[in-house]
Order: sequence, then C-alpha cells, then structure tokens
Amino acid sequence: EGGNNKLDTQIFNKDNIKQAAQLLAQGELVAFPTETVYGLGADATNEEAVKNVYRAKGRPSDNPLIVTVADEAMMKKYVTEIPADAQKLIDHFWPGPLTLILFVKEGALPDAVTGGLPTAAFRCPQDPLTNELIHTLARPIVGPSANTSTKPSPTTAEHVYHDLKGKIAGIIDNGPTKIGLESTIIDLSVDQPVVLRPGEITPDELSEVLHKKVLLNKGTVQTKDVPKAPGMKYRHYAPSSPVYIVDDPADFAYIPHDSSVGVAALADNLHDLGDADSFSLGVSIDEAAHNLFGALRYFDSNEQIKTIYVQGFAKGNISAAYMNRLNKAASGNHFKK
Ligand code: TXA
Ligand code: MG
Repeated sequence: EGGNNKLDTQIFNKDNIKQAAQLLAQGELVAFPTETVYGLGADATNEEAVKNVYRAKGRPSDNPLIVTVADEAMMKKYVTEIPADAQKLIDHFWPGPLTLILFVKEGALPDAVTGGLPTAAFRCPQDPLTNELIHTLARPIVGPSANTSTKPSPTTAEHVYHDLKGKIAGIIDNGPTKIGLESTIIDLSVDQPVVLRPGEITPDELSEVLHKKVLLNKGTVQTKDVPKAPGMKYRHYAPSSPVYIVDDPADFAYIPHDSSVGVAALADNLHDLGDADSFSLGVSIDEAAHNLFGALRYFDSNEQIKTIYVQGFAKGNISAAYMNRLNKAASGNHFKK
C-alpha cells in the first residue's frame, strides 16, 4: 500500500452515518450495505479516492465501476439524457437491484470511474443507511462489490472486514444482504437493450415493462476491443480450491465423501455425506442465491477442503443469475459420475 500505515477500520451503524459520510468527503473509503451485496464506497468525483478503491480491492483498473446514486435527480447531473426506456425502468424498479448503462457528459466523471468509456453504470440501491449516506455526501459514490478482486462478493459486514480490514476507513453494518447476488445490469446505450449481467430482475420482467424484447448477453456480444461489461472477462467468485457444479442432486451420492470435500446444497440433499463437510444453502433457490457466496467463503477459509461441490439449479427466476456466478466460481466445470 505504498508504505501507508494500516487503517483502523471503523464499524458504523444507523446512529453514525454522518461520520461515515464525513470520511467519504475527506477522500476515504467506506463500505456500504445494499439489497444485493456490500459495496466499496468512495466519492465518485474524487479521482484519487477512486484510484484507492482499485488498490484496496486489487482490481484491474480497466474494469469500470458502478456509480451509486441516492435518486434519479442525482444521476441527471452526469448523463447526457435519460432515454424513454431508462425512464420506464427507473420508475418501475428504483430504488432496487437494477443497474443502467447510460451515456455520460464528457468530463463529468473521472476516467478512473468510467475506464475512459463514453458510458457509465448507474445504480440506486434500496438500503436506508446507504441512501442517507449518499444524500449526506450530496455526491454519488462508486460502488464495486467490497471484496478482494476475484473472491466471492460480500453479503455481510464480516465478509468485508475479512477482505479489507486495515485497507479502508470504515464499514456500515446493516446485517446480511437480502438478495445475495449482484444487481442486474442492462445496457441502454445500444439500440436493442441487453442484459450484461443477470440478477434477481430477469430479462422477462424488463421486457414486460419496456414492451420490447430484452435479451441476455451470453458473452458473445462485444464492441470492437472492449468487452461489454468489462468485468466479465475476469475470473470471479473463486475459492482457492476447485469447484464443481452438481446438476442432479442424486449425484451427491457419487462424489467422494472424505474430509477433504466440501458440499453446498439444499438442506434436503445433505444427508449421507460421510466425512465431507457440508454447508446448507437453505430450502429454496432464492435461499440458495442468498447463501451461495457465504458457502464459497466458508469452504475457502478451511484449508482442509481441497474440492468443493455445489448444487446447480435449472429452474426459478433467479437461477440464471445463480448459475452465472456459480459457473464463474467453477470455471464452467460440472461433476460427472
Ligand atoms: O449489486 C451490485 O451491482 C453491486 C452493489 C455493491 O451495488 N456492485 C457491483 O459492482 O457488483 P461491480 O463493480 O463488482 O460490478 C460492476 C460491473 C462490472 O462487471 C463492470 O465491468 C460493469 O459493471 N460496468 C461498469 N461500467 C460499465 C460500462 N460503462 N459499460 C459496461 N459495463 C460496465
Ligand atoms: Mg464485483
């Protein structure tokens, strides 16, 4: 960290949001809760502060950051216009887990935020403490997930503390996040709106509000040399040990059952696993989405675990988002008996 002394990372709650906003105003980094995952905040108009976000996360600096706003009015100062489709989505889904890619006014945001792109990603999260934080600062904050780059996104303040203690000034703790997977990202800077990252809000729900077909980008649509959603090209969410997706729960009977194995699955599938360590994903796909990153972190923190098996899901609204994250953690590897 350039020889800097380690910071004493403070924990904030609903009673001292003003202090947290003060730190942001001074160019410090403060992690904040959202309904999806915890974000790493810095004043989005302060280039030096934004550069420190990349440093703290160990994130490649060509991967642009989300601009987190308190409301639509705050976003208006930075975008060239709010297209009709964007307006419909804002009216319907904000505050909420939907991020919009829109054109920005030239020079309105530092290059460190946009990665030099003519567009930026805007998000208005649904969390009263974070909303108060941004209102108090009266400027947007950048908001990448508050994890070390390549590790699973943080769904509790403890996850953030584990990854970033000593590297950031503070963390606002508002308990475990509700959804557990990052926001849906929709690109509205192109003729045909396209989802760049699946999340709880599905392409079908977006289509319904826009009265037009919204496609899910499977990673094939790219501009000339910049991949759409540049973050997509990096390895993600990955524990140190290899992860395998188990598509059919009946196959848990055929995986090795020794103490070097970790299994994350719905509670019903966790019997008869011998010496393997287990982590319950809950009783439904929504609970599994909520618990996935915590499960990956749980096994990552146990050196004894050399192979991790995680239940896959084919059905359910959030299954596309869940499988998108799990596929990255597993580098696309599925268990075959
Ligand atoms: O739920 C969320 O969105 C969380 C919470 C904290 O708000 N944030 C989050 O941020 O997931 P991050 O930085 O981990 O992911 C942002 C994604 C990256 O994949 C990045 O490449 C993409 O958004 N992105 C940012 N600006 C973009 C742009 N102008 N065009 C296309 N993709 C962009
Ligand atoms: Mg992230």
